[in-house]
Amino acid sequence: MKKLIIINGPNLNLLGKREPDIYGSLTFNEFFETVVDKYPQVALEHFQSNIEGELIDKLQEVGFSYDGIILNAAAYTHTSVGIGDAVAAIETPVVEVHISNTFDRESFRHMSFISPNAKGVIVGFGLQSYELGIQIFL
Ligand code: DQA
Repeated sequence: MKKLIIINGPNLNLLGKREPDIYGSLTFNEFFETVVDKYPQVALEHFQSNIEGELIDKLQEVGFSYDGIILNAAAYTHTSVGIGDAVAAIETPVVEVHISNTFDRESFRHMSFISPNAKGVIVGFGLQSYELGIQIFL
């Protein structure tokens, strides 16, 4: 069974409440339950932190044994050399995802420290971006 993990960065614990016009009105847990049911052939986990170092620790912890990582580093995407370096350092492939179309937003969201080291990037399909990320690994 493939072992995959969705790693979510800062403020994504507020999905459902946070700027619903941009991020939708579903909570991440509601969405996660539907994908767990839909992909019974996958051992799917989820981790969220608002703390940069905890995200790096998790990438290091899973990054030599899991089959795939679906990473939405949220705002740290645009600021964190450390998370970018962690993605480069690990062996497990990382698919970078974003809920919103970051290229249709402020210019500071156009730059990513993750993308150069990711297997690929899925941007702008709402929560479905995560599901597309899962499908890449199947
Ligand atoms: C985001 C886009 C980021 O620019 C933003 O800081 C987020 C969420 C997205 O999924 O659309 O927090 O990663």
